[in-house]
Amino acid sequence: MNPHLRVSNSDVQYVIDILISEGWLSNNLRIHESENHDFRLIPLGPMCPAKLPPPLDNYPISMKEGVPDSRKRPDWSTILRGKIGTDVLSKYEPFWPKSHEIIGDIMILKIEAEVRQFREEISESMLLAHPKLRVVLEDRGVMGTYRIRDTLPLAVRSGRDLLLGTKINEVRSKVDVKESGCIITCDPVTAYYSSRLQTERIHTADEAEELRDQIGNSINVADPFCGVGPALAHLVNRPGLVNSLLASDLNPNAVKLLNENLSRWTKKKIDPEVTAFTKWDGNLWSGVEDANNLPLKKDLRGIWNLLIINLPHSFTTCLAPLLPLMDFEKPSLIRGRLVCKSDDLENIRSSISDLLPAYSDVKINPRNDYSPSVKLCSVTIRTSG
Ligand SMILES: C[S@@+](CC[C@H](N)C(=O)[O-])C[C@H]1O[C@@H](n2cnc3c(N)ncnc32)[C@H](O)[C@@H]1O
Repeated sequence: MNPHLRVSNSDVQYVIDILISEGWLSNNLRIHESENHDFRLIPLGPMCPAKLPPPLDNYPISMKEGVPDSRKRPDWSTILRGKIGTDVLSKYEPFWPKSHEIIGDIMILKIEAEVRQFREEISESMLLAHPKLRVVLEDRGVMGTYRIRDTLPLAVRSGRDLLLGTKINEVRSKVDVKESGCIITCDPVTAYYSSRLQTERIHTADEAEELRDQIGNSINVADPFCGVGPALAHLVNRPGLVNSLLASDLNPNAVKLLNENLSRWTKKKIDPEVTAFTKWDGNLWSGVEDANNLPLKKDLRGIWNLLIINLPHSFTTCLAPLLPLMDFEKPSLIRGRLVCKSDDLENIRSSISDLLPAYSDVKINPRNDYSPSVKLCSVTIRTSG
């Protein structure tokens, strides 16, 4: 028996896109119709959590016999077996890549040290198994202040040829991705972007709409660690949701892409080459800025209803200096992510509460394990005004 999401026909593509971006769709089972032909059953893969986050939690999970996808071309491990043989494949069984991230037509792949010697065979097998992929990059971890991945090109499709390792000259890594109908231009080699956070972004946009309804007006949104702006894509594209917008980041390459995105989403005249922190018109600011400096700007203080902090290792230290930006006279929302030891969750929750106005509601939900004792959590803080 396999877990399947029961989804109405009109929502099928929306749900599939989210599952693919999170790496939660089954690779070898097929989407099929329910017994009454009124729903589609979408098979979930082994990396999918038992408790799904919003918006996927709107759909019931049914345990059903999976239908193997016989129409599919051989998967990458079958192709790899043909290259290295069954014995070698079995010998290194625990170490082969278990998951990957797809960004546009780029696959980003972690490769364990034990099987690095096979990285050309692995990446070639990936390109052969996924004909829409153009590039396979090795993910050697996120590094530095800009939180950019250290990547190494492993395989590139060039027309009908596949170039491997040292034969690769140049790789175009700027790509467009689609999330909930919005195009986001990104470049995983020069600026942070993860397709895996789409459900978090949808959750933020749903919470933002609730806040707008509470306040009775479109809201002011500040994202001082915005990268190329993926969280903002979901907000500015919802009608009547956003009034003023503050989008900034330390990484100039991220800001160029952000400005490209903002000018497309808002239809405002924004020059992507101008990375300096700029007020583009009455209610849109973007540019390179250290988040710590924002509250020093008088016209930015006390006006924001939603603050987004996506810097998981530094959430708690970033929060206090940014609070002067908030308009706590009205209901407000702070959304972010934080990394913490499981044992520290309650202490962190109460030290965050101490920084906020009375009766604030601080929710910290562990989303996945960094290590057995460390959790990556989603944070939602609501203040009542
Ligand atoms: C984990 S990434 C998140 C980016 C974006 N919010 C997203 O979800 O794709 C953190 C971002 O914070 C930026 N950053 C780090 N320290 C910063 C600071 N002091 N001020 C402004 N941005 C900073 C990095 O350049 C990076 O783009």
